[in-house]
Amino acid sequence: MKNKLTVRSPGRINLIGEHTDYNMGFVLPAAIDKAIEFTIEPTTGSMIELTATDLNETVEISPKNNIKSGIEWVNYCAGIIDQLTKKNSRIAPFKCSFGGNIPLGAGLSSSAALSCGFLMAINEFFELGLSKVEIALMAQSSENDFVGVSCGIMDQYACIFGEKDALIKIDCRSLEHETIKGDFDGYSLLLCDTKVKHSLASTAYNTRKIECEAGVKAIQAKNRNVKSLRDANLKDLEEVRSSISQDVYDRCEFVINENNRVLAAIKAIKNKDMKLLGSFMFQSHEGLKNKYKVSCTELDILADFAKKHPAVVGARMMGGGFGGCTINLIKSKGLDSFKTTAASHYKLKTGKEATFYDIKISDGASKLYY
Ligand code: GLA
Repeated sequence: MKNKLTVRSPGRINLIGEHTDYNMGFVLPAAIDKAIEFTIEPTTGSMIELTATDLNETVEISPKNNIKSGIEWVNYCAGIIDQLTKKNSRIAPFKCSFGGNIPLGAGLSSSAALSCGFLMAINEFFELGLSKVEIALMAQSSENDFVGVSCGIMDQYACIFGEKDALIKIDCRSLEHETIKGDFDGYSLLLCDTKVKHSLASTAYNTRKIECEAGVKAIQAKNRNVKSLRDANLKDLEEVRSSISQDVYDRCEFVINENNRVLAAIKAIKNKDMKLLGSFMFQSHEGLKNKYKVSCTELDILADFAKKHPAVVGARMMGGGFGGCTINLIKSKGLDSFKTTAASHYKLKTGKEATFYDIKISDGASKLYY
């Protein structure tokens, strides 16, 4: 056991590739300069003492078995302890306090940052020897099994493997990634936070996953080589149209197109074609709104406004949906004018204040100092 140490664990953006991760496809996220910092140290007590400094809350949980708590953030930590118990990892009671500046409910994966950072801190503190991929996978399992959201691997992987000034193309089947160093010279990535998070988000998320699985099952009856939507094309889908519902068809069509868009977007970045890249972002939003049906009025208002603004080359909703942020690719010169006009348009249409985040792409989670 170490004496005391600190771990930094960032949030993430996703340039393109939404709802493709749990379909074993490709995504293009990056870790950002908003993060949670954890300090872990020994305790004389028999329990794990957790303090969320931003909320000024301290809770004790067991180092072995925990039941689900009514406090959301506690479940992300208890879920990690649950994973470690299942793996028979040798951990003892400890104290851990954490806090940071990732806006909650904005779709920047503060929950993945919490799970991954907490596990990384424990891994370092008790010298458990878990690899980076193991940390990402255990954090995902914790969210799936303990918290109860069937999320894919994107958020945890981006949090752990992110690299300064680079997007990472993750192959969600092989769990390998390629670093994409785009030249975004003259352009900025801006997040516009709707400040809403509609309550149906996690239920709808789980339903979408089931609908995709139904599509795969139908396609598999004709083509056994298709193990997930990543392996399917639009022709495969067309062939089973009569045996699936319109909803299942639409969901699968979106995922197949979105997966292709990720690969096309990477080519556009490599060719420095920002206009083309932006057009894929607009298409992604259209699909998420009309086919995958995970957008909401507030996101559509911001995305539609961005589409009409002369400085914007691409915009779309980001993350699971039903609230959170849009991600916008904007000519840097027009950034200020965009913010001012978008804010007043959003206020006029919704009565709410949008918040803007100029983000910088940063390194993934790491130990800071002893
Ligand atoms: C959430 C999930 C991710 C991913 C996105 C949608 O952020 O946690 O795994 O599925 O939604 O792309």
